Amino acid sequence: MTSEALAGRTVECRLLDEFTGTVRSGLSAALVLVGEAGIGKTRLLDHAAASAADLQVARVSGVEPERGLAFAALHRLLRPFLERVEKLPEPQRAALAGAFGLTSGAVADLFLIGLAALTLLAGAADERPLVCLVDDAHWLDRESLAALAFVARRLHADRLGLLFSVRGDEAGPAAALAGLPTLTVTGLPAEAAHDLLARSAPGRVAPAVAERIIADTRGNPLALVELSAGLSAEQLAAGAPLPDRLPLGRRLEEHFLGRARLLPAATQSLLLLAAGRAAGRRGTAVAGGRAARAATRSGRPRGRRRGPERPRPRSRSGTR
Ligand SMILES: Nc1ncnc2c1ncn2[C@@H]1O[C@H](COP(=O)(O)OP(=O)(O)OP(=O)(O)O)[C@@H](O)[C@H]1O
Ligand SMILES: [Mg+2]
Repeated sequence: MTSEALAGRTVECRLLDEFTGTVRSGLSAALVLVGEAGIGKTRLLDHAAASAADLQVARVSGVEPERGLAFAALHRLLRPFLERVEKLPEPQRAALAGAFGLTSGAVADLFLIGLAALTLLAGAADERPLVCLVDDAHWLDRESLAALAFVARRLHADRLGLLFSVRGDEAGPAAALAGLPTLTVTGLPAEAAHDLLARSAPGRVAPAVAERIIADTRGNPLALVELSAGLSAEQLAAGAPLPDRLPLGRRLEEHFLGRARLLPAATQSLLLLAAGRAAGRRGTAVAGGRAARAATRSGRPRGRRRGPERPRPRSRSGTR
């Protein structure tokens, strides 16, 4: 959590206060914050957490390395409540215990696991209203996301709130949350964008330069801060010309990298190809190319399919 004040977001914060107010009053609520990378979803979740300071708050973030581990995120979210597993009705207890590797045997179907998660969370909320914050839902393993979406669709008067954040440009994860109330987080309004720029840029920003940065970033707070940090005080004050392409900062590049890594392997290869061609035309490296190359290095395009796969040698353990 950052202590720096939010620029703008009055409407969004009011909605989140209403969300926590609903849970506090004994009802339930579900909400999905959808928006591009760097738009401020996590900051809004921070606001919700602060707004629910008198309630129970459980928070989990999707993490890329655990994206392939079934039920990893659900396990992290439910960990503080796991002693309640014993109190669940037997089929639900067995289903959750199986999903979390507490018992051996086949993993039960998602319906029972989702139901078990709902019973567990509702039981915890019975003691004190509970707000669950699920950040970066696009990085959640598929099974956890499905189970949590299942819970969110079945909330009643449980004193339980589920708030998700997901990048809007990822069709898959956002689609898994379909049917839930959604708040699309867009760029900051002009006044708030100017305010953030004035706060974050080192020195004076000439009005024309501010307009250019805000237009180029479409009010994305991360991009605003990063782009202005990449310019010299002279450029910001309009004492020196701006480059044609405003410089991407390292964090912004990381965000694009993250997005590239979410793409299917074939799309990453295509992106790499397109970026390479663009770089060739301009004689300069473009961020998309760097992102795609790094994503390629991360190993995802191993799934490239160009005809039948050749058999690979077995490892010494005998596994492939
Ligand atoms: N309204 C705001 N006022 C000031 N700073 C903001 C605001 N919104 C976001 N920021 C800053 O912009 C950066 C990105 O915000 P944040 O991490 O919340 O984005 P995000 O939407 O969660 O991105 P991602 O999809 O990559 O997780 C952070 O440094 C954050 O502090
Ligand atoms: Mg975030």
